[in-house]
Amino acid sequence: MSSDAPRGVFITFEGGEGAGKSTQIARLAAALRTASGREVVTTREPGGTPRAEGYRAALLRGVAKPFGPFAEALMFAAARIDHVDALIRPALARGAIVLCDRFADSTRAYQGAAGGLDPALIVSLERVTLQGLRPDLTLILDLPAEAGLARARRRGGEGADRFEAEALSFHERLRSAFLAIAAAEPARCRVIDASPGPEAVEAAIRAAVASHRPDLLPGETGDRDHAA
Ligand code: TYD
Repeated sequence: MSSDAPRGVFITFEGGEGAGKSTQIARLAAALRTASGREVVTTREPGGTPRAEGYRAALLRGVAKPFGPFAEALMFAAARIDHVDALIRPALARGAIVLCDRFADSTRAYQGAAGGLDPALIVSLERVTLQGLRPDLTLILDLPAEAGLARARRRGGEGADRFEAEALSFHERLRSAFLAIAAAEPARCRVIDASPGPEAVEAAIRAAVASHRPDLLPGETGDRDHAA
């Protein structure tokens, strides 16, 4: 490992609309703080830093939509560069556990698979934006598109945004895209069934984290053990 390699742990949460990511991130953060005693940073995309939150407000209002998926992806990337440089890399360098609500897989799924942007462009954009940074673990909260949208619409507020307004077929493509990412990168990704209630989803997430990194949740049984 080189001396500038991050010492922290980077965990991302992905999935379609209404999968319950924010509730689960708060619960996992609390569990990790208690169990590991390490610094736990929770953050989100687009956003996470004051500059990137400015981009978020514009993106969720649909400001970039008329410019097409490539321009929109560039704006997500601009927000991500600030977030990575100003928040994520410094936290990892301090040894923190970083829990991030959405990251580069959302660009692959929303602007790529569902939005129709050329996958080769997404790969190039990821390379220049992330400069080798990669989540240690990605938890994909999976839910039928219709159920997720219904949940997101009930939630309302900021959730009534640019992407929730897309047709059901867009959200079905998103779901397939996240499942395809998980299938292509099984060492990094774990699919979590987000259909049951929050307690059951929380237990599945803790088991996935414990099986990936037993040191983070000592005493927990990992999901591989459950499966055995
Ligand atoms: P948010 O209200 O946080 O949605 P959710 O609660 O479902 O996570 O809004 C973020 C929206 O931005 C969400 O619809 C997904 C979208 N998005 C992209 O299209 N590309 C990206 O790279 C990222 C990070 C998010």
